[in-house]
Amino acid sequence: EQIEKGGYEHFMLKEIFEQPKSILDTMRGRLLVEEGIIKMAGIWDHQERLTNASRIIIIACGTSWHAGLIGEYLIEEFARIPVEVEYASEFRYRNPILSEKDVVIAISQSGETADTMAALKLAKERGAFIYGICNVVDSSIARITDAGSYTHAGPEIGVASTKAFTAQLTILSLIALKLGKHNGHLSNQEFMKLITELDQLPNKVQEVLDSTNEHVKEIAKNYIDATNFLYLGRGYNYPSALEGALKLKEISYIHAEGYPAAEMKHGPIALIDENMPIVIIAPKRGHYDKIVSNVQEIKARKGQVIAVVNDGDEQVASMADHVIEIPDTSECFSPIIAAVPLQLLSYYIAVYRGANVDQPRNLAKSVTVE
Ligand code: G6P
Repeated sequence: EQIEKGGYEHFMLKEIFEQPKSILDTMRGRLLVEEGIIKMAGIWDHQERLTNASRIIIIACGTSWHAGLIGEYLIEEFARIPVEVEYASEFRYRNPILSEKDVVIAISQSGETADTMAALKLAKERGAFIYGICNVVDSSIARITDAGSYTHAGPEIGVASTKAFTAQLTILSLIALKLGKHNGHLSNQEFMKLITELDQLPNKVQEVLDSTNEHVKEIAKNYIDATNFLYLGRGYNYPSALEGALKLKEISYIHAEGYPAAEMKHGPIALIDENMPIVIIAPKRGHYDKIVSNVQEIKARKGQVIAVVNDGDEQVASMADHVIEIPDTSECFSPIIAAVPLQLLSYYIAVYRGANVDQPRNLAKSVTVE
């Protein structure tokens, strides 16, 4: 096992550090920047079916569901196809309205999650076209889908999903840009700009690992005894907040809630005092000014702010108790970069608390029963 961990203390840390490679592997052969194309075998034969979908329904559980929420933003923004995101467990029991013009995208790291599988069987019976995004090759979900794209994240052993999540976001970005280019909603110029940015992500993720790891480890020491955490973000980084909170809950057993930043005033603000750490995800390009005022409101109530901001940020950084800097990218890709320090923060808090990070209590890597 020590050999498999490749010198890291836990699989989770190893997998966090593998992300530059897993993102690159997921793009390899698909993102051809010099030729100005995205090539995806799964889409090739079904391009019309996908671009002509009356709507796309994304079905998933857990972390994969959070990737799905970001997928909704991506596909709606670039391909202008309406998207709904559903928990598989809810979808399968509510007699959903489906037609043959609908496309269902299932996202699953393991490809074995029972609820996702059951939801897909239902969608298939009702004639929807099923597209799979799985990490495990030849898994049950991969086998029942009509088409799909594998994430090439490699085996993920840590129960809390890390590199599978960023690989899912990579695939969803490729799909959204490809469909948008095909149906003409994305201009060639915009497409080129975005794929050039996408191509830089493995390097930027490496950069954020190198520049934040030790710093986040230090920050984590301050929060070992916290009993609650709030995570806030907007737009593309609202799901990042949900995923950051889930990661912390899963492995450190600290209660954490993710919220869209603007909803803070409708509830969570009542909880804010000097004992409430709040992680704010505030890259420059994502509703930054609105988030500045959220931070002011939090500081006025003495909440402790851990801010994830872009390199060189001044405004939010000047108010925050702890600042984590990440490189700039288009807003639509920022969740891929922002995920990294949030994973590290959860990891180090959990390790300091003596928790079993690779095998958290009561959780399973793949939930094959209902
Ligand atoms: C379990 C795992 C999570 C995962 C979820 C969905 O709860 O502990 O990490 O996100 O299942 O799994 P899937 O394999 O379908 O992505």
